[in-house]
Amino acid sequence: MTTAADLAWWQKTIAYEVYPKSFLDTRGQGTGTIAGITARLDYLASLGVGAIWITPCYKSPMVDNGYDVEDYYNIDPSFGTMADMDELIARGREKGIRLVMDLVFNHTSEACQWFVESRKDRTNSYADWYIWRDAKPDGSEPTNWRSIFGGSAWAWCEERQQYYLHTFAPQQPDINWENPDVRRALFDIANFWADKGVGGFRIDAITYIKKPPVFADGPVDGEDGLSSVHDATANGEGILDFLHEFKAAVCDGRDIFTVGEANGVDADELGDWVGERGVFDLLFEFSHTHVPMGEAEIWCKPATWTLTDLKRALTASQKATATNGWYPAFFENHDQPRSTVNFFQCDGTIAAKAKALGTVLLMQRGTPFLMQGEELGYGNRAWLSIDEFNDVQTRGEYDFALSEGFTPQQALAACNRFSRDNARTPMQWDASANAGFTTGMPWLPVHADYAEINVETESADPDSVLNWYRRLSELRRSRDELLAGSYEELVPESEQIYAYRRAGEKSVAVMLANLSDEPAVYDAALVDGLTLLAGTHGTTEPGELRPLEAVVFGTN
Ligand code: NOJ
Repeated sequence: MTTAADLAWWQKTIAYEVYPKSFLDTRGQGTGTIAGITARLDYLASLGVGAIWITPCYKSPMVDNGYDVEDYYNIDPSFGTMADMDELIARGREKGIRLVMDLVFNHTSEACQWFVESRKDRTNSYADWYIWRDAKPDGSEPTNWRSIFGGSAWAWCEERQQYYLHTFAPQQPDINWENPDVRRALFDIANFWADKGVGGFRIDAITYIKKPPVFADGPVDGEDGLSSVHDATANGEGILDFLHEFKAAVCDGRDIFTVGEANGVDADELGDWVGERGVFDLLFEFSHTHVPMGEAEIWCKPATWTLTDLKRALTASQKATATNGWYPAFFENHDQPRSTVNFFQCDGTIAAKAKALGTVLLMQRGTPFLMQGEELGYGNRAWLSIDEFNDVQTRGEYDFALSEGFTPQQALAACNRFSRDNARTPMQWDASANAGFTTGMPWLPVHADYAEINVETESADPDSVLNWYRRLSELRRSRDELLAGSYEELVPESEQIYAYRRAGEKSVAVMLANLSDEPAVYDAALVDGLTLLAGTHGTTEPGELRPLEAVVFGTN
């Protein structure tokens, strides 16, 4: 049986996502800096964080906040310099915190030198580095694919008299992985960063890199007359060959970990992606976030769902990684609304929901990934108009909703519920102006609740969400079964309680969380002989859970 001693450093730690633009501004410019992350390493250490994933901070026009990379070898001046980055890597290592860089390898920015050359004509040495196609005979787009951010996935280029494919925004042209020179250039970039001593990579949008052999129209699935590019291209046959090449060229023999972002890979396919036969150490798959959002991720048409749907998805991912690979447990990232809104359909305070869901997350088998602010108990922000949003996808979803016949109010309500900007508002450090994030004008509005929900105030309150997270983080790191033990779901049929048992070589823990606003009962025999290790409501009566109460029982 696996014990904590058998695990790698990244399996025993907690990972934390930093959205650098919103973390801490050390220059009064309204956007965050890399020096701001270095300044808060002690805070992250206090949460037991051993790896920080920072979203892209390379030179970029910022159409998609860094996911449009102009130069992979340079830091965007708004974030600082390469010296700042080296400093962050070095200071982090001193404190036992490794940096995880985001590799955006499905596409570049249109401002990337490769694309600037490629678009010039059909014969230059970069001509084949992107996905170029001729127009249909009537001059229209090569296929009817809809980009993930809305509108056609093709953009016209006057110079070449051809279209190029963009799975995301038109300013994010897709790279042609079929060309071996392109792959070499990408692997060189990853090696450049690995040589700097980063602890790992998160690999962006990786399921889109292999395009189908034949480009054909898909079934129209919206009033806009288009068809999802995701359905046409995700997880294409042969994709794993490219990724095995990446692994051999970059990862093998290094003390780093990789986590692929894999929309389109289901739990039953995980074995090809992680573990012995796999290409990454971990894989973000989205079966559980599809529960409230719906598989198609069309915000104005969300799914109807129940707690058992959510639990089934999480347990399927746990089962798929039980003996092969390792699970990155997450409820939030910079592409999701806040989990206290996303995963609840009941009343109750945000703080109570945050504590209950935090317990579910931090006791899971795998490496928990927190999104900045999640540990403070954030809700979504109340957005008053579409103009307040910055996110390119939010604007696309808003327009799509209007094209589907939704009123502006309904479209705005969908954005309030699902917009990615909910996760991107400035980090709330204290009760001073702009939550201590900046002395300038913040690039995105600060949450209205920052006077109570911030690091300083919550640190001083023993009952705060932040101190609950710290407590669970400590508990997790101190117990073998919570790090290395198995996962077995309990009461799977309950529509109120999510519960599971973690069993290690010599110890056991049971987590039970009432995710409803009604009292719930369970069979007290499930915790017979075990002691209460932590409870959101203090002491507890075995067999009963108050609304939004979460408890962890364990062997002594
Ligand atoms: C996934 C990233 O997480 C998201 O923020 C980005 O917009 C797309 N990939 C495109 O890079």
